[in-house]
Amino acid sequence: MAITIKSEREIELMKEAGVILAKVHQDLGHALHEGMSTWEVDKLADEMIRSYNCIPSFKGYNGYPGSVCVSINEEVVHGIPKKERLIKDGDIVSLDIGVIHKGYQSDAARTHGVGNISEEARLLIERTRQSFFEGMKVASEGHHLFEISAAIGNYAESFGYGVVRDLVGHGIGTNMHEDPQIPNFKQLLRGPKLRAGMTLAIEPMINIGTWEVEWLDDDWTVVSADNSLSAHYENTILITNGRPEILTLTEEEIAEGIYK
Ligand code: MF3
Ligand code: CO
Repeated sequence: MAITIKSEREIELMKEAGVILAKVHQDLGHALHEGMSTWEVDKLADEMIRSYNCIPSFKGYNGYPGSVCVSINEEVVHGIPKKERLIKDGDIVSLDIGVIHKGYQSDAARTHGVGNISEEARLLIERTRQSFFEGMKVASEGHHLFEISAAIGNYAESFGYGVVRDLVGHGIGTNMHEDPQIPNFKQLLRGPKLRAGMTLAIEPMINIGTWEVEWLDDDWTVVSADNSLSAHYENTILITNGRPEILTLTEEEIAEGIYK
């Protein structure tokens, strides 16, 4: 399958899907607290998504049981919500959410610290987020796709972190996963040329220790192989002739100055 260029109308719908998801992330982030089960997080997110007349894209995707992925500490991604899994003080909690709005999808992830987190955890979260924004500096028409990969990976690796290699970002549109696949580390090739109208989900997954990961027996939860802390940051973006538009940020996040 080729990389699709979205029409003006499609871009409009992708933007709407992005704004809704940004709001869901913001509200869910505020609701997150110590003692809450990951099942409660999922239920709340599901209600929020449906309140916008959207569909949680993860629910039932390849049999995935939740509406969101909740991955704690050494869990990298795809943590399955459970009634018995309670969030504790000092945990770092990655929330990954996808919505379908009028047939168009958005996908975004945030890692939140709950209560008092360690300084190394705080730095991991901040630098994982910044690695995404390093990628944005080369995410425009005329650049090649894997320049984004290298910008993300080189930044994260400069701190000695392990950049997860077994999972990648992706094109997005009427499907959650479209071409191309987008690794988060330097590639030998330069990849396809970026063109205005491409919509991509860029999602660095960064471990404090090794980049290697393992799958738990539930066949979903991915953990770092050395059980070191892991953070995830993802947005759906639109490639333009200039700086990319980040479709899944709130006004507040932009006002905070994270996207310079
Ligand atoms: N954001 C993830 C991705 O891009 C989430 C997929 S989880 C699943 O692949 F449950 F839907 F599979
Ligand atoms: Co994704």
